Amino acid sequence: MTSDLLQVSDAQVEFHVAGGVVRALDGVSIRVTPGETVAVVGESGCGKTTLARAVLGLQPLSNGKITLTGEEVRGTPRRLAERVGMVWQDPYASLNPKWRVGRSVLEPLYLSGRKGSPEKIFEEVGLDPRFVDRYPHQLSGGQRQRVAIGRALALKPPLVICDEPTAALDLSIRAQILNLLKDIQKSNGCSFLYISHDLTTVRFLADRVAVMYLGRVVEEGPTEQIFTDPRHPYTAALLESAPSLEKLMHLPEPPVGEVPDPKTRFIGCRFAGRCPNAADQCIGEDPPRTVEADRSYFCHLPVKTS
Ligand SMILES: Nc1ncnc2c1ncn2[C@@H]1O[C@H](COP(=O)(O)OP(=O)(O)OP(=O)(O)O)[C@@H](O)[C@H]1O
Ligand SMILES: [Mg+2]
Repeated sequence: MTSDLLQVSDAQVEFHVAGGVVRALDGVSIRVTPGETVAVVGESGCGKTTLARAVLGLQPLSNGKITLTGEEVRGTPRRLAERVGMVWQDPYASLNPKWRVGRSVLEPLYLSGRKGSPEKIFEEVGLDPRFVDRYPHQLSGGQRQRVAIGRALALKPPLVICDEPTAALDLSIRAQILNLLKDIQKSNGCSFLYISHDLTTVRFLADRVAVMYLGRVVEEGPTEQIFTDPRHPYTAALLESAPSLEKLMHLPEPPVGEVPDPKTRFIGCRFAGRCPNAADQCIGEDPPRTVEADRSYFCHLPVKTS
């Protein structure tokens, strides 16, 4: 019925920790169509990496469903690597420091019983093919991330998840990596689920944006609409703090007020305690989903159209 490549429906992930339960994903629904880039943004701890891990089958859901290329993701089936590639913030997360990098990029092929040329993959990601014999520590940060991207793309999966792929890189290198991702998409037509704090890169890359807050997607829609005409006060606050958004990762002060304890059992809107528009209704009732043309949001008192 649907042409979705990835469909996350009402996904729930709970972590039982000392003092309570963290609902890292609390009813998250996201769709990615073929060739599309969907960005997931939101402050630290809102559940972005948990979402990525769930799509990769690394994080079991306590409720909901994830479907990739029409098949439900459960456990960690080996064939999943043919359907989804992963680029982490830290390339060392996917590169064995003791292996020559040429071996690392070929490993996904090897595991699925195929052969390939590491030099060719290196060329695809803009690396000198002679680097295949190097070890990760003999490359720069940007080169290592290119190797990690090459590895994620080795099986030509239709979906590639990037979790803060440029956060650890210098600004000048960041632009190169983003351009590489764009070029790759143009040449092989894959989709990206692009996770980032950095709204500038999101605007550059994404077709659609999902804004997460405390385990929920509070607003979702086409990138330009989200950036120029947000509905959810949290999206608006996030955009307002955009020039210093990268600092959000480290700064003690988020856009408005403080993120509540994730173990809180919420009744109303999760953002109510920080929201300048909050009314009694927001504290007492969970906001319903409002669908407006191509976008949707969860808010009792949305920001008015300018
Ligand atoms: N293994 C775990 N055990 C307990 N709690 C966890 C675990 N992994 C994540 N959490 C909690 O789940 C919530 C979501 O974490 P997650 O790492 O998905 O956030 P994030 O949006 O990726 O944050 P960041 O931007 O800092 O990477 C946080 O409150 C986090 O503390
Ligand atoms: Mg994360």
